[in-house]
Amino acid sequence: MEFILAIDQGTTSSRAILFDKDAKVIASDQHEFAQYFPKAGWVEHDASEIWESQLRAIEGALKKAGCSWESIAGIGITNQRETIVAWDAKTGEPVGKAIVWQDRRTAGYCDRLKAEGKESWIQERTGLLLDPYFSASKMRWILENRPEAKVLADKGELRFGTVDSWLIWKLSNGRSFVTDVSNASRTLLMDLRSCEWDGDLLGVFGVPSSCLARIVDSSGALAETAGEVTGGCEIAVSGIAGDQQAALFGQLCFEPGMVKCTYGTGCFILMNVGRGPAVSRNKLLGTVAWRMAGTTEYALEGSVFVGGSAVQWLRDELGLIKSAAEIEALARSVDDSDGVMLVPAFTGLGAPYWDPYARGTIFGLTRGSTAAHIARATLDGIAYQVCDVASAMASDAGRELGEIRADGGASANALLMQTQADLTGAEVACPKILETTAMGAAFLAGLGVGFWESKEVLKELVRADRRYGPGMPVHEREKRLRKWAKAVERSQAWATE
Ligand code: G3P
Repeated sequence: MEFILAIDQGTTSSRAILFDKDAKVIASDQHEFAQYFPKAGWVEHDASEIWESQLRAIEGALKKAGCSWESIAGIGITNQRETIVAWDAKTGEPVGKAIVWQDRRTAGYCDRLKAEGKESWIQERTGLLLDPYFSASKMRWILENRPEAKVLADKGELRFGTVDSWLIWKLSNGRSFVTDVSNASRTLLMDLRSCEWDGDLLGVFGVPSSCLARIVDSSGALAETAGEVTGGCEIAVSGIAGDQQAALFGQLCFEPGMVKCTYGTGCFILMNVGRGPAVSRNKLLGTVAWRMAGTTEYALEGSVFVGGSAVQWLRDELGLIKSAAEIEALARSVDDSDGVMLVPAFTGLGAPYWDPYARGTIFGLTRGSTAAHIARATLDGIAYQVCDVASAMASDAGRELGEIRADGGASANALLMQTQADLTGAEVACPKILETTAMGAAFLAGLGVGFWESKEVLKELVRADRRYGPGMPVHEREKRLRKWAKAVERSQAWATE
C-alpha cells in the first residue's frame, strides 16, 4: 500500500497525516510544542522542539496506520510561514530560538524603513509591506543581537530558513538546503516577478546571500530524505508550500478569482489571481500561490492575526468556556451581542490596517452585558476582520466575492460561518474534510511523484459539505460595518507609549 505523508508544521502544533489515493485520511498524529514569550510582543519557538514534535507526529501516524516509511510514496511539507530559524551549517544546531511570525520586536525598525520612504518600492518588488510579520527584519535582528550568528555568517556558515527549509534540512540530514517559492515570497527578500533573492533587498536588511536556501518549485523532485533519518528509505520530498498557499491548493482554488479563508490561530484569506503578480492598492499582500513545472501562479492575501486564538483567550485567560467548541452554544444563547463589540487586536492588527500598536478592545458594555454577549462579540469580531479583508480584496480585484471556501478548526462553528456569510454577502462553503492545509500539501506532493496524474483528478476527490448563504438585510449589514469601523479606529495606536 502506498500513501502520501503530509507534514503540517503549524504555529502551535506539529501534525502528520497519511492520505491514500482517494484523498482519505488513513491516520494522523499531532503534538503541541512550547511557545516562548520572553518579553511583551515577542514570540519564540525552539527549532529542536519543532523537529522532535514533528518526527514524533510522523512516527505516531505511521504506527496508527500500521505501516513504515516504506509505504510513503512522497512527502508534502506545509508550514507556519515567515517564522525564522537560524542554524549552524556545520553542526546543524539552532542559533538561539526561532523568531515566530507573530513576533513584534522589529516594529520600530520597520517604522524607520518606512520613514526613509522605502515601503513603496519594497511593496512593488515583493508584494509585501514593511511589517515585523515578515522574515527579513527578524533575520537582521538575529545578526545584530546574537554575536554567534554574526560570527557564523562572516564565515559563510550560518543558515537562515523558514520552517520548510529547517525540516528538509533535518529530514535530509543536512544534505538539502531548499525552500519553496511560496515560502520564499514571505521573507521580504524575494523579487515577486523573477522569484529569486533580490540583491537590493539583501542589502537593505543586511542578509548575506550565503545564508539563504535555494528556491525551488512547490511540486516535483524537490529534495530527498536521508535513509539514516527515515528508516533506511530515501523518500522524495515532492511538495512544499506555506500553509495558507497549501490550503488554497487543498480547496482547489485553481482559477483566478477563487477565494479561501482558513480559520486557524489567525484567519488567512487568499484569492488566486492567476499567472501575473498582484500588487494591492488596498494594503493586501501580493504573494506566490505555488510554482509547478516552472509556471508560477500568484495570490492576493489578507492576513488577520487573531482568529481562533480569540476563542482560546476566552477559554484560557477569561475562563468563560471550558473548551473552544463550547463557544457556539454560549454565543447562540443570545440573539445578538446587544451592542457589544470586540476588536481582537491582541497582537496588533494585520490586513488591511497593519497597525502593530493596536490592542484588543471591548466596546458597548452595559450593566446587562453577559458572558454570552462577549462570546457572541468574539465570534463577530473574527468575522468582521475577515469581512474587512474581503472588501479590500473585492476592491483590488474589481469584483465582488461570490464564494469563500472556508476551512480550519473554527470553520466547524456554524454560527461563525453564518455570521461570515451575513457580513460579507458571499456564500461560505466548507469541505467535508477540514484538513485542507495538509491535503493541499499532499496534493502537491502526490502530483510531484505521479501518485495523482493531474489537478483534474483532484476535483473528483474534494466535495463541499456545508454551505451558508447571506441572510442579513443590506441596511443592517452596513449599519454593523460602520459601527465596526468605529471600533477598529478606537483600538488603533494604543500601545505606542
Ligand atoms: O503567516 C502565518 C501562518 O502561516 C500561520 O499559520 O495555521 O500556523 O496559524 P498557522
